[in-house]
Amino acid sequence: MYFYERFCVWLGHLKLSRVILLVSVILFVVPLFTHYYLSKYESTLGSLSNNHMRHTLEALGDLSTMNVVDLKVRIEEMLRIKASVSTELRELEARRARLQREAVAASAKADSAKAEHARAAAELQRLRVSADQARLAQLEAIRRDSPELAPPLQILSVRPPPILPPIESTSEPHCRMFSCFDHSRCSLTSGFPVYLYDPDIYAPFASSEVDGFLKTTLRQTLGYNTHLTRDPNKACVYMVLVGEAFPFEKTSSTTESYKLLLNETALKGLPFWGGDGRNHVLMNLARRELSVGSGDAFRGVSTGRAIIAQSTFTHNQFRPGFDIITPPALGPPGGDVWLDCAPIAPARRKYLISFQGSQPPAKGLDKDQDQKLVESLQKTSPSPDTFFLQFECDPPVEKRSLLPIGDWALCGTDRSRRAVLRDSTFVLILAPADRTYTTTALLQARLYEALRSGAIPIILGGDRIRLPYDEVLDWKRAVIALPKARVTELHFLLRAMSDADLLMFRRQGRVLWERYLSSVQTSIDSLLATIRSRLNIPAPPASPTVGAPGFNESYYPLKIDPPAVDTEPEETLGPLEAPYASPAYRRNYSIGLLHGYELWNDWGEPFVLYPQLPWDPMVTSEARFIGSAAGFRPIGAGVGGSGKEFSEALGGDRPREQFTIVILTYEREAVLAAALTRLRGLPYLNKVIVVWNGPSPPSSASSWPESGAPVAVVRATRNSLNNRFLPYHLIDTEAVLCVDDDAHLRHDEIVFAFRVWREHRDRIVGFPGRYHAWDINFNNGFLYNSNYSCELSMVLTGAAFVHRYYLWAYWRALPAAVRDYVDEYMNCEDIAMNFLVAHITRKPPVKVTSRWTFRCPGCPVTLSADETHFHERHKCIQFFSQVMGYTPLLSTQYRADSVLFKTRIPHDKQKCFKFI
Ligand SMILES: *[C@@H]1O[C@H](CO)[C@@H](O)[C@H](O)[C@H]1NC(C)=O
Ligand SMILES: *[C@@H]1O[C@H](CO)[C@@H](O)[C@H](O)[C@H]1NC(C)=O
Ligand SMILES: *[C@@H]1O[C@H](CO)[C@@H](O)[C@H](O)[C@H]1NC(C)=O
Ligand SMILES: *[C@@H]1O[C@H](CO)[C@@H](O)[C@H](O)[C@H]1NC(C)=O
Repeated sequence: MYFYERFCVWLGHLKLSRVILLVSVILFVVPLFTHYYLSKYESTLGSLSNNHMRHTLEALGDLSTMNVVDLKVRIEEMLRIKASVSTELRELEARRARLQREAVAASAKADSAKAEHARAAAELQRLRVSADQARLAQLEAIRRDSPELAPPLQILSVRPPPILPPIESTSEPHCRMFSCFDHSRCSLTSGFPVYLYDPDIYAPFASSEVDGFLKTTLRQTLGYNTHLTRDPNKACVYMVLVGEAFPFEKTSSTTESYKLLLNETALKGLPFWGGDGRNHVLMNLARRELSVGSGDAFRGVSTGRAIIAQSTFTHNQFRPGFDIITPPALGPPGGDVWLDCAPIAPARRKYLISFQGSQPPAKGLDKDQDQKLVESLQKTSPSPDTFFLQFECDPPVEKRSLLPIGDWALCGTDRSRRAVLRDSTFVLILAPADRTYTTTALLQARLYEALRSGAIPIILGGDRIRLPYDEVLDWKRAVIALPKARVTELHFLLRAMSDADLLMFRRQGRVLWERYLSSVQTSIDSLLATIRSRLNIPAPPASPTVGAPGFNESYYPLKIDPPAVDTEPEETLGPLEAPYASPAYRRNYSIGLLHGYELWNDWGEPFVLYPQLPWDPMVTSEARFIGSAAGFRPIGAGVGGSGKEFSEALGGDRPREQFTIVILTYEREAVLAAALTRLRGLPYLNKVIVVWNGPSPPSSASSWPESGAPVAVVRATRNSLNNRFLPYHLIDTEAVLCVDDDAHLRHDEIVFAFRVWREHRDRIVGFPGRYHAWDINFNNGFLYNSNYSCELSMVLTGAAFVHRYYLWAYWRALPAAVRDYVDEYMNCEDIAMNFLVAHITRKPPVKVTSRWTFRCPGCPVTLSADETHFHERHKCIQFFSQVMGYTPLLSTQYRADSVLFKTRIPHDKQKCFKFI
């Protein structure tokens, strides 16, 4: 009894599982023993019967019958016992199985309880983090004593310029912005309104008609310019098309006495001249007769306080910071210009240097210097293979007397010159022998042709030459300007340059040419932007795309709670906050001052203002705690920390922000519904924008799953992959996550990529890496490659973060030919985006996490479709490279994982992310 109690107590101490073990041991052992004893008993029986035989032999008699009966009984008894033991065994076996089932059920229940607990704990943690964040945001809102800066009122003039006494003609050469420009007509908030005198009405300035093409083009190009106003009372600046290329009329045989054709009286009779021509810009766009040179329309004419914009100036005449050097109107009115350009590579071309031109004889001018120059060049020329020099034109240039004195006339035709330029690494441009010129239209025509064909211009005499828009454009990076005395060192200098530098000069020259010189449109836009930059008036805002809403106001599909998905690992990734838009247009008046150089010469563009740029500066580290703390979410409130603190705050050097998801989809509502479902509970998600690609609207019957964040559906007017990159007005954040509707991304992957993107805002940050591999079989450009590789140059935008700025740049900076190609083949928009970003930044994309592909494993792709897909993508890379003049893609061997990924850390610390 005592032992039994002890046993029970002991059993009681054991856990259920141990009991199970014990029971199974017992159950296993008991049958064994039973079997053993039974067999032993049977063998005993056997030996008994042997004895019995002996007895029978020894003692004859009937004794045996008695024993047989007895034995029979005993055997039967034994068999009965055996049967009963077997039954008992079976019962025990059944009980064992039952107990085992119960045990399994119990342990499953325990597991699910544990998981439930973890989920609840995680949810609690999430709620706590979210509540903390909300409290912080509220506190910030209360603490901010200054209200949001109200949008400024537009201050505009209301009357035409009043008539003032005219300026002394002796003071005209001293005109500067502070002395001859009326700033009061151009308030900071005015938007820089520009009035154009209709060239059909106000062009009686010269006896020769202004070229009709030029008039139409100017009216058209200014029509596209957002600064144009029809109300002369409001205008800040008045544009006058004076004419073009006024040839001087020869009145006597000596070169000095030309009669001017400009009608000064007509000029001063302009309705808004205001007595002295304040805020007027007189444009002389050289175009016609360029091959024989074109003149300076204003020499000897009194122009009052007006600004002069033309291509030819003398040093005495040009007023720095006031007058503007414009390129001659050589290009087409507008549009894509890439067809005219030569490829950038190879760095070194057939001729090291080339020159084609002839200098007409001019009386009364010492041409000795240029003669010496020519001789010196011919002497240093190592061989005609490397120097292509032609100092006499065949046939000789006519009407030479119309040239600015000592200027070098162009030889041959546009076509023949282009052929030589495309074969030249460098091209010589000789400044006119007459040193009074600071620039001439002919010199600029040479510059234009050189940049277009990728021949790096070397201006001999460049130390006294000014180039178009040089108050904003940095020509040092595209043109080599040397004093004429350097001619003896020229060969040495050019040989000393590395290939990388040559390509850099050539690429920058092409950038400047494309943006500011190539067409009449770019040239006129640049002229206005230059004056606007002087006044530090912000450019007009970039206009977003207003997409047609997918559903009308009275109807939105039923929102249903999707079934809970358990695929997300239990991990707190960040607070769930209310949508928070990124601050926009905070740098209207400072960007031109701090980043004016980059806007004109580097990554930006001066023509429009963007709400934010990837290069916007950040406050210094301590300012985040002293004075400028609003919006910052430092990790551990500034103390730092590992996984737990990390998951609660965004950290980094920039204020808190969220991201927008843009999903391009069409007629795959089930796939889209699944995609939206997967986004539930995703931290930092501001909004989901579904771009419904195609003319037929989404079906109204379906119900859409609730995704946690606002979902906006916009309908594109036509089915195009380019629609994925439209800068929709609904996007409120700088960070934009582009995803395919069938891309499966985990929440932790998205949040991690977002955090990485915050430090690489000017790059594409995403998951699927690809590269451009050289076609070694045909040596014929690059091939698209998606194999596993340790170097990549593209991150596909099926799952990648990009800055909102690039959505605009995709439409403004990328040649239209690229987008047309994407439409034609319904492919490669992601390659185009990679080209664009690499072209602007000269940096490769950033790949995050080890994930290589995102297609759902079950989604079928036929092999032949796959092959044409690849074939098209090879072609895309080759075509885009041809359009852009080079392949801008850059390779990278770098991948981002979270900081504590695979680091051994103490057990009381958490990693940044559990799995990445
Ligand atoms: C900056 O420019 C934008 C776009 O023109 C405008 O909406 C915003 O009100 C401006 N902000 C300030 C402070 O001028
Ligand atoms: C100059 O313009 C005025 C006013 O338009 C006109 O009366 C005059 O005849 C013009 N003079 C010449 C020489 O064309
Ligand atoms: C709104 O759209 C729904 C479904 O597309 C349609 O049934 C309804 O008539 C529309 N209402 C209006 C006011 O256009
Ligand atoms: C991937 O690599 C294999 C050889 O390893 C090659 O045959 C195949 O063409 C490659 N795929 C692509 C897309 O380049």
